[in-house]
Amino acid sequence: MPTAMITGANAGLGFEISRQLAEHGYTVILACRNEKKARAAVDRLVAVTGRPPKTFQIVPIDVSVPSSVRDAAHQVAPQQLDVLVLNAGGPMQLTVGAHGVSATIATNAAGHVNLVDQLAADGKFGDDALVLYATSEAVRGAWLFGVPKAVLQFDTDEQVQRILRSEDVRGDAILGYSHAKAAGMLALNALSRRHAGLTVVHVSPGATAGTEVARKGNRESGMPMYMRTMLTSMSGFMLLLGFMHPLSTGARRFTDVVAHPQDYEANGFYASAWRAATTGAVAEQRALVPGMGDPAVEDRMLRQMQAAFL
Ligand SMILES: NC(=O)c1ccc[n+]([C@@H]2O[C@H](COP(=O)([O-])OP(=O)(O)OC[C@H]3O[C@@H](n4cnc5c(N)ncnc54)[C@H](OP(=O)(O)O)[C@@H]3O)[C@@H](O)[C@H]2O)c1
Repeated sequence: MPTAMITGANAGLGFEISRQLAEHGYTVILACRNEKKARAAVDRLVAVTGRPPKTFQIVPIDVSVPSSVRDAAHQVAPQQLDVLVLNAGGPMQLTVGAHGVSATIATNAAGHVNLVDQLAADGKFGDDALVLYATSEAVRGAWLFGVPKAVLQFDTDEQVQRILRSEDVRGDAILGYSHAKAAGMLALNALSRRHAGLTVVHVSPGATAGTEVARKGNRESGMPMYMRTMLTSMSGFMLLLGFMHPLSTGARRFTDVVAHPQDYEANGFYASAWRAATTGAVAEQRALVPGMGDPAVEDRMLRQMQAAFL
């Protein structure tokens, strides 16, 4: 039976991706930071899928803590993973923590990069394994949500270090978030060149209603009030207008890649095809991300990220 591991699988898109993959016959490893929430998620998954409890395993991980990432990787069996979904994340605080990068970079990018590197180094991926990175339309701009395109300078190591500390976003948590997702895509592309046989695809779920992200408040997310309101109290209206889509649709953007990998380009960035939209069909858009596809830039990002996040 194929196996998929999903970070942040206890809530939102991670939970729904787990549900869809379990229904496609996958054994699912829920990689979560809160064991109680993870156990409750397994109970709900067993109930909604009708699959036996042994279909679901739990691996504890806080992706923002390097030692936790290493411990989690050690718990996976050799050659066990066919699919890894790097889903945990969302807008976070911009403060630099004990591990040399901002909280938003640690969770959305650096922790996941280290997880893939450790799993690959330890031989935990099966043949032709697929790594899906949850990115965002925010990287190429999302006008409806007032998010400008990420403009990044990464010609020198110092510039990249500033990105990793979220220094150039003037306290804007959403801009910091979009820089983190861009940084994650660059570093993962570099990593995929180091580990033959690993295919990385970057997927935005699109603006998805029914997740936890807007309910977390400013202390954790730093998300501006207008955006939290759009994602919570106005989400019914946004769904009706087609500006957001339901959880099942957002998650299907990932499970479609698993079902039809031949239709997706390795290292591609898949987001809503219509540039003004955050819903609808996806198209490959790596040309819209500065530095993406340039091995020198991608390698510099990976090097600096791993040097900082220890
Ligand atoms: N929803 C959208 O419209 C949207 C749009 C574009 C991209 N995305 C991306 O899609 C992914 C999922 O988003 P979502 O909306 O489903 O978010 P969500 O409902 O807030 O769920 C986030 C999940 O990530 C986990 N998580 C957060 N920090 C973690 C850490 N340090 N270590 C381990 N787990 C951690 C959370 O665990 P706890 O329950 O313990 O907090 C939760 O399980 C994110 O990467 C997000 O950036 C979402």
